[in-house]
Amino acid sequence: MAETQGFILSLLVFSGKFWWTSSKVLLPELNVTCIIQDDCVLPCSFRPTGTVVIHWYKQQIPVHSYYYHKDQFGLQNKHFSGRTSLFNSHISQGNASLLLKRVKVQDKGRYKCYTSTRKGNQEIFVNLDVKAPIQSVTMEMSDEMVICTSHNIYPMPRVIWATEPTLAQEALENSTIRTTDHKGLFTVESMLRIVGNLSERTYFCSFMSADKSQVWTASRKNQDDITHEEGQPLSISCMAPHSLLNFSLTWTISNPMEQTLILKFDNRTGNMVNLWEEKAVLNQDLLLQGDGSLLLSKPDSEEHSGTYTCTFSGLQGRHIVQTKVNITVASINVDEKNQQRSWWSTAASAAFVLFTIIIALPLCLRQRALEARKLSYRYNGAGLVEGEPKLNRDPNSSTSCNGEQPGAEHTKEQAQADTHDDQFNDAHRSASCNGTLGPDSENEEEEKQGECQTEEQDVSDSESFEQNGFINTEPELHLAETSSRPQA
Ligand SMILES: *[C@@H]1O[C@H](CO)[C@@H](O)[C@H](O)[C@H]1NC(C)=O
Ligand SMILES: *[C@@H]1O[C@H](CO)[C@@H](O)[C@H](O)[C@H]1NC(C)=O
Ligand SMILES: *[C@@H]1O[C@H](CO)[C@@H](O)[C@H](O)[C@H]1NC(C)=O
Ligand SMILES: *[C@@H]1O[C@H](CO)[C@@H](O)[C@H](O)[C@H]1NC(C)=O
Ligand SMILES: *[C@@H]1O[C@H](CO)[C@@H](O)[C@H](O)[C@H]1NC(C)=O
Ligand SMILES: *[C@@H]1O[C@H](CO)[C@@H](O)[C@H](O)[C@H]1NC(C)=O
Ligand SMILES: *[C@@H]1O[C@H](CO)[C@@H](O)[C@H](O)[C@H]1NC(C)=O
Repeated sequence: MAETQGFILSLLVFSGKFWWTSSKVLLPELNVTCIIQDDCVLPCSFRPTGTVVIHWYKQQIPVHSYYYHKDQFGLQNKHFSGRTSLFNSHISQGNASLLLKRVKVQDKGRYKCYTSTRKGNQEIFVNLDVKAPIQSVTMEMSDEMVICTSHNIYPMPRVIWATEPTLAQEALENSTIRTTDHKGLFTVESMLRIVGNLSERTYFCSFMSADKSQVWTASRKNQDDITHEEGQPLSISCMAPHSLLNFSLTWTISNPMEQTLILKFDNRTGNMVNLWEEKAVLNQDLLLQGDGSLLLSKPDSEEHSGTYTCTFSGLQGRHIVQTKVNITVASINVDEKNQQRSWWSTAASAAFVLFTIIIALPLCLRQRALEARKLSYRYNGAGLVEGEPKLNRDPNSSTSCNGEQPGAEHTKEQAQADTHDDQFNDAHRSASCNGTLGPDSENEEEEKQGECQTEEQDVSDSESFEQNGFINTEPELHLAETSSRPQA
């Protein structure tokens, strides 16, 4: 009996000034984990009987108080200022939970919820743990080093390196730097020295959260450079390191100037955006098996040379494959073609000059004289020129100057087979235009212009010398499109 009294007495002494300690209820401690910057509820309840006094403490620091039916901020530590509240409308139902807003690293700790009513008082302890989850991991690669970085993490994560094909753990010479900012968040930067050939391996770095619930992995492979001949199909490989569930894939090309998106695929929607359309394709069936290789059907040295980056982004991870591609001009073939062309060009020009001197020039001169006579006759007779059909429609007039006479057929074909001098042709055409009219009155000037335009059109419509004249200046154009290309 005396022992029991002694126990109660010591209990009373231990619990200090509160006389109604005898009815104190001991409850298990609660554990709460909150995400930094989020709002967080520290739970606490009591048996409601009339008026209540509520005090929240963190260790000995006053966090929040409530009595006389209202919040009391007089003693509140300024660390919590403006960030705490109770669920006031629920207090009468026995809810003394604390709402802590914009949780900080420093909020971590053991909190006490003290409640006191007529029926007695009570203490509940709540352990608040905080964390800032890993949100991204970036990986950079130079010739000697791989560097992985992640920011704003709490608590400190672990970094694990790996390669594929594997290297012994001892060979992975790594060093990790951890820094904290004023908020107490960690930035972790880990470096791995590259052993052997960079392009031989895929490098992985994983950041694992302290509670092991989260693993973020960045991986990267810098493939061997590709040198490839223009016009030949080229496949640039990109394999996902492991099966991916929800992922997106992007291909970009970059040169020193800029980075350009080529295509984008989202596995969740099945949506593919291809900005290179016919020039680049990606097999969607293979892609779902983790093969995101890009096929360039007809690469061009100017447009398609550069650094290609393929990025698989998945849940808590990112895999990058980078390939430098140099599309070279097919130098030998082009030289040969040019040589051939220049030979033909010379031969054809010579033939044409000869043809002109021997046949066309006398004809043309005769024609000019004839037309001048015809025109002056028409002017004198009808007095109106505008309504008249154009002179060059007359098969006997200017066409003959373009060498479309039956007698010139063979020479024309030869010239068409390849080329003659562009300049010569221009001179020739303008000569035929000038030849159709005398140099006098304004009316005549108009007529002359109209006629020359019509003639040009006629000439380009019918595949005649101007067409072939392109070949000298723009060989590719001719190869690609045999006709109906207006003069550049
Ligand atoms: C709270 O966490 C501590 C360890 O931190 C553990 O011993 C205790 O059992 C936990 N309590 C509950 C209610 O989960
Ligand atoms: C108190 O009320 C709030 C708001 O309704 C609720 O989120 C919380 O869980 C309640 N706590 C207890 C211990 O009932
Ligand atoms: C990295 O370095 C640490 C110590 O510096 C070592 O324990 C670890 O095995 C190394 N390798 C990997 C893969 O993390
Ligand atoms: C590294 O790769 C290059 C080609 O990319 C090769 O020529 C060289 O032999 C390789 N070196 C080693 C040590 O494997
Ligand atoms: C993948 O995405 C779908 C649709 O958005 C979602 O329902 C599913 O939970 C996601 N799977 C994982 C593993 O996140
Ligand atoms: C996303 O990828 C998974 C696995 O590769 C595949 O089973 C699923 O069909 C894909 N979803 C779409 C919309 O393509
Ligand atoms: C591409 O290859 C050609 C021929 O090998 C070379 O002359 C040129 O410098 C290379 N260009 C780049 C950017 O590497």
